[in-house]
Amino acid sequence: MRTKYCGNIRIIHLNKTVTLCGWVHKIRNFGQFIFVDMRDYTGLVQIIFELKNNITFQKALYLRNEFCIQISGVVKKRTEKNKNIKISTGEIEILANTLNILNISKSLPLNYTQNNNDDARLKYRYLDLRSFNILENLKIRNKITYLIRNFMTKKNFLDIETPLLTKSTPEGARDYLVPSRNHYGKFYALPQSPQLFKQLLMISGIDRYYQIVKCFRDEDLRSDRQPEFTQIDIEVSFMDAKKVRDLVEKLIKKIWLKIININLKKFPKISFYESMKKYGSDKPDLRNPIEIIDVSSLFKNKKFTLFFSLDSKKNNRIALLCIPGGADLSRKKIETYDQYIKIFNIKKLFYIKVTENNIGHTIIHSSMKNILDEIILKKIIKKSKAKNGDILFLIADQEHIVNKSLGMLRLKLGIDLDITIKNSWKPVWIVNFPMFSQDKEGKFSSIHHPFTAVKNMDIKKLINAPDLAISDSYDLVINGYEIGGGSVRIHDFNMQKKVFDIIGIKESVQNEKFGFLIEALKYGAPPHAGIALGLDRIVMLLTNSKNIRDVIAFPKTTSATCLMTNSPSTIENSILQELAIKISKNRY
Ligand code: AMO
Repeated sequence: MRTKYCGNIRIIHLNKTVTLCGWVHKIRNFGQFIFVDMRDYTGLVQIIFELKNNITFQKALYLRNEFCIQISGVVKKRTEKNKNIKISTGEIEILANTLNILNISKSLPLNYTQNNNDDARLKYRYLDLRSFNILENLKIRNKITYLIRNFMTKKNFLDIETPLLTKSTPEGARDYLVPSRNHYGKFYALPQSPQLFKQLLMISGIDRYYQIVKCFRDEDLRSDRQPEFTQIDIEVSFMDAKKVRDLVEKLIKKIWLKIININLKKFPKISFYESMKKYGSDKPDLRNPIEIIDVSSLFKNKKFTLFFSLDSKKNNRIALLCIPGGADLSRKKIETYDQYIKIFNIKKLFYIKVTENNIGHTIIHSSMKNILDEIILKKIIKKSKAKNGDILFLIADQEHIVNKSLGMLRLKLGIDLDITIKNSWKPVWIVNFPMFSQDKEGKFSSIHHPFTAVKNMDIKKLINAPDLAISDSYDLVINGYEIGGGSVRIHDFNMQKKVFDIIGIKESVQNEKFGFLIEALKYGAPPHAGIALGLDRIVMLLTNSKNIRDVIAFPKTTSATCLMTNSPSTIENSILQELAIKISKNRY
């Protein structure tokens, strides 16, 4: 039906006759001429209908936005003053000979060229996708998956599909469940990841597996989380953690180079512990150079415990951020920062402003000045290397509260005061995560998943002090986003049972839920390791998208609904009966 695409016509096609298919993007009627911007997925081109060609002109009078049309015409050069440098076809226009209206269109319920409310965008997603921005993101997504497949195939990885109707894999979220008709009362779980299957493939001797695969997690959604999302899932046998990281680093570097022409340098590696201490987070945005500075050692005296109302039985930390140029912040602004981190239950955000008077003397303004003497304030300033014009924000509280709140404040101030270096790329590997976290009752749970191996040197700690055991795991973080996570796996069935024991999974539940894995580990399971990268997040970063929805064709809302298809939806009684499911009026 077409000889060319709208967005591809250039000056080299001058005087050629072309046939195009697409949509009416915009119409301007000048009496003798009708100008139509015509659109297809490659871009826009200007069509002119002349009164001289009366039959076609009369047809063109019927055109409205978003009509689907086919035109034939001759490529003409635009006059100098009519050139449009904003579009790739701006040097030419098409003088139409024929017009064929393929389909009419109702006026659209949203203007996809402007910012619409999210609900309208999601309800009419097929129209929202007519916007060039999202289309561009999808094109980039396609380029990325092409690069990945190419890279992995060259490295001899096999792309193997794993089941979607399966059993629960613990990745920290709730499962989406699918009832079985044949085995009523029983349910499949949609995979939170293909974790166990990829390990089983290693036991099969597959050696190198990868898959670009949908995963499903019923969890609270955020701007970088969707209930169904896509992983680049990788598993290899006989490779240690470093080799896996090197492989992934090469892949990421290749993607960044080919998609945005950026040469990433070697990714630094920092421990989980260091990351928490310096940045208050295990996904630090290293584009922001500010680090949390520990000043606990300056407050050894018991009187400070009282002053800061610290509970001496708890694990406390006194730390600060030194913000260059922050001394100009008004009291009101400081108050807004105090409010910003109140959600983390901090007791108080203290500040110290360091300025200089007109004869060059340092002046200290501080919300602690009435209580802390000048000597200690000066010690704090010295330790933080604050200069004139800087502000220090100090918090004294339980360590996890200090880390979280200063970590968040660091990010906020970095953006507000333009300290974070935009347009830069800061990948970092976070390694040496603890194996387990412990709740108030002392119950352990895995920080990664329970199939993660402990570092060789910490094997004994699994028996004596599981809380101190460090896992052989790694996360890849870029510009503050967790892009991927993985680990060396447990390949010894006794060790696997030991870890299940530590996290309190009873023997009967171990066998019921993971019996197949425990059994498989008994048949010469090779040492193996792997990782999964979040494809949607990679595309988000490379397209500079603020929301994961902008890189997914048909995303869900933050409450995991699809406004276009109205899912989830109720099911007819007859089908529920077949599944032996009865919906209770009350939610338990
Ligand atoms: P993990 O749970 O860390 O590891 O997931 C890997 C990566 O997937 C991305 N991701 C998400 N992206 C969008 N929406 C979500 N809801 C979401 N959840 C996770 C993140 C994350 O880093 N089986 C292990 C991997 C392994 O050990 O090999 C796993 O799934 O970018």
